[in-house]
Amino acid sequence: MEHGLTDPLGTRPRRRVVVTGAGGQLGRALAEAFAGDDVVAFAHSDWDVTHPAPPLGESADLVLHAAAWTDVDAAEADPQGAAAVNVGGTRNAAAIGAPLVYFSTDYVFDGAKRAPYVESDGANPLSAYGRSKYHGEGAVGAAGWIVRSSWLFAAWGTNFLRTMLRLGRERDEVAVVDDQRGSPTYVGHLAEATRELVELPFGIWHLAAAGDCTWADFAEAIFEEAGIDARVRRIPSSELARAAPRPHYSVLRSEKPEAPRLPHWREGLREALSRLP
Ligand SMILES: NC(=O)c1ccc[n+]([C@@H]2O[C@H](COP(=O)([O-])OP(=O)(O)OC[C@H]3O[C@@H](n4cnc5c(N)ncnc54)[C@H](OP(=O)(O)O)[C@@H]3O)[C@@H](O)[C@H]2O)c1
Repeated sequence: MEHGLTDPLGTRPRRRVVVTGAGGQLGRALAEAFAGDDVVAFAHSDWDVTHPAPPLGESADLVLHAAAWTDVDAAEADPQGAAAVNVGGTRNAAAIGAPLVYFSTDYVFDGAKRAPYVESDGANPLSAYGRSKYHGEGAVGAAGWIVRSSWLFAAWGTNFLRTMLRLGRERDEVAVVDDQRGSPTYVGHLAEATRELVELPFGIWHLAAAGDCTWADFAEAIFEEAGIDARVRRIPSSELARAAPRPHYSVLRSEKPEAPRLPHWREGLREALSRLP
């Protein structure tokens, strides 16, 4: 295989794996999933990716680039700031010179389709964040995997799961958007799938949880699984008046038969709940 990471006899020495954004929800899960390797984890305070990488000492075998500007609404007011991190930062991560995994998003699509988006579908981002992530894909270079995933959640960090757990405990009723459909993806499952992916050829790969739902469905499942007695009031996106438009439909599937398959989002939800602090 062209990137030389395959080792069918299990004789490979530990790889030197750089993780960027290691303090974020996915970065933390990646550092866990690759713990059998020699992980060099850079949180934001260790390396601001808008600057060139700090000296690494020895060379790296693999870069897992999870650092990103992820505030979708704030990117509308500062598209250059978002691009500096998501495009410029990716260029700097690629300049390390090792094969790189770039994590992209379902928000590169406009949501006009009503069947799952596959790798060969054309991108048409609706938001400044989506555009910055799409242009970031172009900064990866030839030696890289572009992983598009969606609606990430973890037992840590800032995400919909943790917001719903807080709101559901505070209120009798929580208003949640019911006109956006996607696949909520547990970072632990995505990190495990990334381990499988780096044995496969470079290119674009859609890796998201099996199953799909709306945010309102997801909120109901969260309350049900967590035993929270709150109602979900289903609302249209227009009621939230957020700065950035989101696709109404952004379910991702892979058209590649060898693509790693992730468990169902509800399984991911149960696993995240079991790991809450
Ligand atoms: N969250 C989702 O629903 C979702 C969906 C699809 C794809 N993705 C992609 O998946 C990847 C991981 O996302 P995530 O959910 O783990 O996001 P996250 O929790 O926000 O983590 C991103 C990390 O990047 C760091 N960061 C921001 N600016 C940086 C900079 N200039 N230099 C270095 N680090 C910087 C952040 O640090 P601070 O917190 O200190 O700023 C944070 O620790 C991103 O590429 C994201 O675009 C996310």
